[in-house]
This record gives sequence, C-alpha cells and structure tokens, in this order.
Amino acid sequence: MTHDDYLSRVTQYIKADPKELEGFKALTSYHAGQYDQDESWQSLDQVIAQSEQERGGAAGKKNRVFYMALPPSVFIPVAKGLKKNVYAKEGVNRLIVEKPFGMDTESSNELGRELGALFSEEEIYRIDHYLGKEMVKNLMTLRFANIFFSQCWDRKYIDNVQITFKEPFGTEGRGGYFDDFGIIRDVMQNHLLQVLSLIAMERPISTDSEAIRDEKVKVLQCIPPIAAKDALLGQYVAANGKPGYLEDETLKNKQSRTPTFAALTLWIQNERWEGVPFVLKAGKALNEAKVEVRIQFRNVAGNLYKGTPRNELVMRIQPNEAVYIKFNNKQPGLSYQTIQSDLDLTYNSRYTEMAIPDAYESLILDVLRNDHSNFVRDDELEAAWKIFTPILHKIDQDPDLPLETYAYGSRGPASLDAFVTKYGYDRSNANYAWPVQSVSGASNKL
Ligand code: BG6
Repeated sequence: MTHDDYLSRVTQYIKADPKELEGFKALTSYHAGQYDQDESWQSLDQVIAQSEQERGGAAGKKNRVFYMALPPSVFIPVAKGLKKNVYAKEGVNRLIVEKPFGMDTESSNELGRELGALFSEEEIYRIDHYLGKEMVKNLMTLRFANIFFSQCWDRKYIDNVQITFKEPFGTEGRGGYFDDFGIIRDVMQNHLLQVLSLIAMERPISTDSEAIRDEKVKVLQCIPPIAAKDALLGQYVAANGKPGYLEDETLKNKQSRTPTFAALTLWIQNERWEGVPFVLKAGKALNEAKVEVRIQFRNVAGNLYKGTPRNELVMRIQPNEAVYIKFNNKQPGLSYQTIQSDLDLTYNSRYTEMAIPDAYESLILDVLRNDHSNFVRDDELEAAWKIFTPILHKIDQDPDLPLETYAYGSRGPASLDAFVTKYGYDRSNANYAWPVQSVSGASNKL
C-alpha cells in the first residue's frame, strides 16, 4: 500500500468533522514490513524513534502503545518481534490485544503463557469493545447508584434474564473467518458474557479497576459449563433473495455445521442467583439489529390484579440507547382497568446535546489513561473459557447435535419461543410495543 492508500483505508469509516480528520491524517504514517523479520521491526523502531524526536518527547516519557488486531497464527511472532525490537526503553509500553484470544481453554492458556512471557499483565489490554459501549458502561451505575434496583436484584425478585444480540446481516464475505469460530466464540463467550458479568456480579469494594475485575471473575467462577440440554443452535438458510450461510462464497466447508445462531442458558450457583436462568441469545441474518438486556421480574404475589404482565427492566445497548421499565398502571379516567405502560429514558430524546463516543474511541482513551477497568484480565478470560469450552468441543465434534435451520431475515429457529418459555420467560405481554402505549391490551377489572 502507499501512504495515501493506507490513509483512505483507515479513515473511510471515521465520522468526524473534516478539519479534525485532516488533523488526524497529518499525525498518521504508514510503515510496511514482514511479521517474522527482525529487520522489519527494527526499521519500525527507527521510524517511531524519529517521530518521538521530532515531537520532542520528554525523557522517560517516550511511551508506546501497540495495537494487535491480527490473525491468531501471527499473534505470537508479532508480539515477539515487538518485544525484541520495538519495546520502548525510555517510557512505558502498552499492548492492546484484539480477539480471537484462543479457541478454547487450552489454546487460550497457551497463548496467555506465551504472551505473558513477553509482556506483563499490567502492560496487556485485552479489548472487548462491548465494554466501551455507553449502556454497558452504565450497567454498574444503574445497579449501584439506585437503591430501588440494588434492593430487588436477586432471585427473590428476578425470574429470568435475557441478553440478546441480533444482527440483520449474514457473514457476507466474512465466512472464512467466521466458520472457524461460529457465533458462540464470535460474540457470546466475550461480548455477551461480559454484559452478564456486569449484571450478575456483587458490588465491588470500589470503582478501582482491580476491584471491579475481582468481582467479575468471582461471578464467572460460579457458573458451571453450559450443558448441551441448555443450548439451541441454528444456521440460516436462503430466504427473501438473500443467500444462506452455506452459500457464502468465502466459506471453505460447504457442509459446515457452524452455528450462526445460539441460545444458551447459564446458571449462576451462588446465593444471589441460584435458579435464575440467564438466557444468552445471539444470531446473524435475523429480522433486526438489536442488542439488549431484559430483566423479567417475578409475578406479584397474591396479585389483586390477576393476569397483569410482569415488570421488565430493559436496557437497550443498541441501536438507540434506552433504559425503560414496563410497569402496570391504572388506566386514566373512570376505568379501573390495568394497562401496561413504561418509564422511559430514551437517550436521544433526553440527552439531546450529548455525543456518545464510539466504543473503541472510549477504550483507546482508557489505555492512554492506564485504566484497565474495561479490559479483560487473564483470570477472567480463563473463567470465561471454562464455561464455554465443553459445549464448543461438543459442537465441533458431535455431528448428531441438533442444528436447526432458520430463514434469513426471520426471528431465528422456530423453537426459540418454546426455548425461552421453558426458562421462565413469560411472553404474555408480547404484543406490547415499546414505546407506544395502548389500552387495547388492558385487562382485569377490580
Ligand atoms: C465483533 C464480531 O466482535 O462484533 C462481529 O466479530 C460482530 O461478528 C460485531 O458483527 C458486533 O459489534 P457491534 O459493535 O456492531 O455490535
């Protein structure tokens, strides 16, 4: 690539004011080399040293951040090349590591060992961009800054938790990468599990990064490996003029059984959550783009207003961040009917002046500030793989494990509704459409 090719490639997705973008380009340079050759790394070191000199880097503050977004096969050779040849001697080093971080417990531990021999845990930032999303960063605040949430956040009040990731497009040219990983490794073992740990963890002793990560690790360690009976797997097929997964041209194995959809139920064996199903659902080529957490509370005991729907707290991560609570209200006026309504905090109507940064923008700033809170610690990663490795191995090895098909653009496999119902999700308010309020669903005269 030429320098200009590089610039147009890296800036094509940046949404910024044109003047700022020019400023960014002026700071950017491109240097090409081979992953496995010391000379390439040494020449990179020289380029960086020259730039440090031109920018007048203060002694002892010639800090370097390296960002590895690479295929797993070159991961360690690159880390070695960096450590040997480009590691800052006159400042601190930070290494950002993108997924995939292993394929299972064993490969992840192996990678961890090799990387750990080169960079310290303090220097490593395992990035999970979901931790940089506004609503995910808000989960702790919601839970621990509001007494009415903190008091009903357990098995006594919560019936089930749904964490849902839906994408309206298929692999479309990414089949080569995706087929080796599947939807569980792609978004569930990392992104959705991170969301789960923030919802389920105990209150940290402070907002210090290690205190937060200690609690996240502890709750993950209370989760046994996912059982095959708690899994529903699917793969999309052609529909609505869109190709099926197996028709993706970049796919090598045309008989692939890689799931593009999964619903997995996790159980947390501790005092707070025993018996509460956490249902993680994720799929490609579905009917909409949506990521949300839905906490469904229990029925009101001895309810005077029989048949009224359950309360639900919904935290919509994307698109259009929102927190809303479905609750029951008396229909205004002479009627005593109960209607379902919502307490609604929709960001774009409430925080009109606010610019929400992109997840990566916020996380890279955290790296510069040396804040590890929103990055995955080594023991956290290990605990995460322990939960997922047995089911992943079963999927990879057992050709008899059921894999349901679903149409491109649909809501997912046909048995999904029965699956979530089995784990307690009450769909009796399925006609409720947020944020529209309607009295047609009204029920029960006193
Ligand atoms: C990535 C996955 O980590 O997350 C992709 O590899 C997925 O398959 C993406 O599309 C989703 O991220 P976002 O921020 O668009 O929800």
